[in-house]
Amino acid sequence: MMPLDTILLKRTGLVASLLLFALAISCQSNKGNDPIPDPVPPNPGGGVDYQTTPVTFRKPANFPDIVYDLSQNLLTVEGVALGKTLFYDPQLSRDSTISCGFCHQQFAGFGHSDHPLSHGIGGKFGTRNVPGLQNLAWGREFFWDGGVTSLNELPISPIQNAVEMDLKFSDALIRVQKSPGYPAMFKAAFGSDTVTTARFLKAISQFLLTLVSADSQYDKYVRKESGGDLNPDELAGLNLFQQKCATCHATDLFTDKRYRNNGLPAGAINDQGRYTITLNEADRLKFKVPSLRNIERTFPYMHDGRFATLAQVLNHYTSGVTDSPSLDPVLKANGKLGIALTDTEKKQVSAFLLTLTDDTFINNRAFSAN
Ligand code: HEC
Ligand code: HEC
Repeated sequence: MMPLDTILLKRTGLVASLLLFALAISCQSNKGNDPIPDPVPPNPGGGVDYQTTPVTFRKPANFPDIVYDLSQNLLTVEGVALGKTLFYDPQLSRDSTISCGFCHQQFAGFGHSDHPLSHGIGGKFGTRNVPGLQNLAWGREFFWDGGVTSLNELPISPIQNAVEMDLKFSDALIRVQKSPGYPAMFKAAFGSDTVTTARFLKAISQFLLTLVSADSQYDKYVRKESGGDLNPDELAGLNLFQQKCATCHATDLFTDKRYRNNGLPAGAINDQGRYTITLNEADRLKFKVPSLRNIERTFPYMHDGRFATLAQVLNHYTSGVTDSPSLDPVLKANGKLGIALTDTEKKQVSAFLLTLTDDTFINNRAFSAN
């Protein structure tokens, strides 16, 4: 067995080199007609011989500006539909059993509740908990350790990962090209039926970008919309959250997008988090601060799924925080480890966290497998 650090490094380091490889493949199969990236926009709203239907990306009023450069990949009804079909297609795995949606399940906020660690092809286990997916247009770096720095490149990692989908990316493109239905969808979205790396990845990004979750009871409260009443416990919880949690779980995205050590002792897998990407000692045991949106649905919790319930998470913050050189200073303020919360306050914080469940998002048919 390889030491875990090496495996993780390989996994993330792989993306860049594989992408180059994949680009080479697509240029080849494409006879050089289709420079990468595609000349965008793909004619939204009108054109010479094909017509796409633009999708307007709406930024929720309580959110910051998006990070993703939409001008490089304008959303269209046809592109999003293609991306969704790819997201739910098990053909993208070696034995045609595992789709993206197999691990990222809508009812679980696009996380996965059955296992602490993700499981993929042949029932093999990965090393990390499947994170929920939402509001990806606001992300600059992805994965628990930030090992992927572009949403457009991300799908190559799970497709090629030996314990996830285990298919060479070039083979995935060939399968899609040969699969009935897809050439017409590529033509509708991009003007020709050739499956290229850029088109494949852009289409998946388009679908992922539509996964905006901004309609929870909390959002309605903030935007003063109907359905946004918080009861006294939820309000008290919000207040406590703002004092004790929002430094890290910041803004209405509920993450400051930084890497921090929240005091979990290293688990059985001894995942060193951000350190495996930067090899900087100061980054040991730091993980990307996760959003808490739909947290009621995305259990189990933490990078290795070690906690099954929110009550366990809160017990960690009050009495489980473990000191180490990289422990976040916020969690040892005034020389005291952890966050002080009484039992009543814990219930109030939990009540608040449940207001972050977005039923509109979780039940939105536009995001479901057909
Ligand atoms: C076997 C389960 C599995 C499959 C299949 C899978 N994922 Fe994931 N996904 C994960 C895990 C685990 C992570 C976290 C990886 C890490 O931190 O190292 C993740 C992370 C992500 C993220 C980053 C989320 C964030 O906020 O950082 C996105 C986006 C994503 N996956 C999309 C996809 C897409 C698209 C596919 C299909 C091409 C896919 N996943 C297939 C398990 C899976
Ligand atoms: C010092 C920064 C920091 C503070 C303060 C903080 N958190 Fe976290 N939180 C994190 C990090 C980092 C993680 C991910 C850790 C990991 O998986 O290794 C996390 C994970 C979580 C998770 C699990 C999320 C998931 O998807 O698995 C929950 C729930 C949570 N925090 C709630 C809270 C609450 C409630 C408070 C306040 C009582 C709080 N946090 C305070 C940094 C912080």
